[in-house]
Amino acid sequence: MEIITDIAQMQQLCLTSRQQGLRIAFVPTMGYLHEGHLSLLRAARATGDILVLSIFVNPAQFGAGEDFDSYPRDLSRDAELARASGTNWLFAPPVGAMYPQGYGTWVNVEGITSTLCGASRPGHFQGVTTVVCKLINIVQPHVAFFGRKDFQQLAVIRRMSTDLNLPVEVRGLPIVREADGLAMSSRNVNLSPAQRQQALALYAAIRAASSMVRGGERDSLRVIQAVRKRIEQEPEAAIDYVQICHEQTLADCDVVHRHAVLLLAVRIGATRLIDNHHLGEE
Ligand code: PAJ
Repeated sequence: MEIITDIAQMQQLCLTSRQQGLRIAFVPTMGYLHEGHLSLLRAARATGDILVLSIFVNPAQFGAGEDFDSYPRDLSRDAELARASGTNWLFAPPVGAMYPQGYGTWVNVEGITSTLCGASRPGHFQGVTTVVCKLINIVQPHVAFFGRKDFQQLAVIRRMSTDLNLPVEVRGLPIVREADGLAMSSRNVNLSPAQRQQALALYAAIRAASSMVRGGERDSLRVIQAVRKRIEQEPEAAIDYVQICHEQTLADCDVVHRHAVLLLAVRIGATRLIDNHHLGEE
């Protein structure tokens, strides 16, 4: 495995591979790798000839007062995990190279970015789509892998890819959870032991919602109320949103139908956690 920090070099290597007929599989991340990331790497490894992993903590997707500076970073540990997962090239560009003096171009997906995390984190998705578009232009992958843990992000990236005719196949993979159900996230390290315990309320609430739906409940409001009630039991939990949305449009659903997804964002102390579950598949 080679660690590449130079954008032009990364682009040239990928271009050469494409010209040789090799299939490039790409996993973009912000590093501090966990099993969720590794599941994407495994799927990508099985799909492509060349596996490219990017690690770039993207300042453009963090708002003022968010955790850009304190976002966990450990490139040498990540490099070991990447190597063990069969990564060929680990692309880790410096911030100043991605956003040099005079940088002025932004990719903005309208509509589905105005709700959920887009409503509580203004500008966040513009930062995500801009960096993902740039990374795709650099790596030129045939296929790129994303986790359904960030459900809205995946929908927004699919929208961008379709709207801008990006020559890449976007694949979404299931949420990887800890043994006790907490969705894996690089931010989980910021939870104190007591908060870590309270964070289990998200999955407990999801399970409760899921069993209500399996029991025949179809009224979104009643399901949402049950989810809120479970989460509000935790002393340090502050709900950002609990919504049931259409999986593609992300419009609110009054009724739990087969395209309905439950999405939640909850702050436990200072740590913002997101989770989701496809209720329509119950
Ligand atoms: P990051 O949070 O590092 O996540 C990188 C990829 O891993 C995303 O596609 C995310 O959905 C996926 N992922 C994270 N936790 C997961 C879990 N528990 N199960 C399955 N997949 C999981 O998402 C980003 O970085 C950035 O916004 C990025 C797309 C790289 C743009 O900067």
